[in-house]
Amino acid sequence: VTVALVGAGPGDPDLITTRGLRLLRRCDVLVHDRLVAVELLDEAPPGSVRIAREEFDQEQINELLVAYGQAGLHVVRLKGGDPFVFGRGGEEALALAHAGVPFEVVPGVSALSAVPSAAGIPITHRGIAAQATLVSGHAPDELDYEALVRLTGTLVVFMGLGSLARIAAGLLEAGIERSTPAAVIARGTRVDEQVVAGALDEIADLSAGLEPPALVVIGEAVALRGRLRGDCGAALQVG
Ligand SMILES: C[S@@+](CC[C@H](N)C(=O)[O-])C[C@H]1O[C@@H](n2cnc3c(N)ncnc32)[C@H](O)[C@@H]1O
Repeated sequence: VTVALVGAGPGDPDLITTRGLRLLRRCDVLVHDRLVAVELLDEAPPGSVRIAREEFDQEQINELLVAYGQAGLHVVRLKGGDPFVFGRGGEEALALAHAGVPFEVVPGVSALSAVPSAAGIPITHRGIAAQATLVSGHAPDELDYEALVRLTGTLVVFMGLGSLARIAAGLLEAGIERSTPAAVIARGTRVDEQVVAGALDEIADLSAGLEPPALVVIGEAVALRGRLRGDCGAALQVG
């Protein structure tokens, strides 16, 4: 295998997998996202080629992966969280498969559950949320708010900070309780993590000062955070 699509985890550099780290430490070429922890970039060998995703469009990145792969180099495509969760890793894998370049996917710890977990929110707590739904907030007018409200459980919104007022309004118009617990977690799992929590009808105003990357979590499970991060919060801190 020459190209590895590696999940870097949600932000804390310790949350990459051992397999991902092993491949990173012996790569010839590192193609990385902006969201990846800078500490992980330092794990690549000093002489390796570094390519920042943001300097190219997706089509060019696909072409670079194919070209370096065809040259037989060890390529690590390091992506935030898990490569196949809102990460366009599927498109890169398809380009490699189409070109006949051998590749592997190294799963990563996705923000989906890791960011709420680190903030004290068990997204599928038994008796409270029997299911979780993940959506992108990128195109908030395209979301089916009535379906989302019918689903109950926990709603996890990626890339939803900028459109949070629109998303909250859509859910409220579709009949969700105004008091539904909600949280916005910015830079989750990192040392500079910020969490804002409140009722759904006020969460957009409360989170006005936050910057991306941020995850929005909506549902009764969010209310457990008070208990999990309250009296016994210290027990959840590692290191
Ligand atoms: C393009 S998606 C990539 C998701 C990634 N593949 C994953 O599995 O976590 C980027 C979005 O993920 C969420 N996200 C990623 N890392 C985060 C973090 N440390 N804290 C909060 N949200 C995060 C944010 O909603 C951000 O806008």
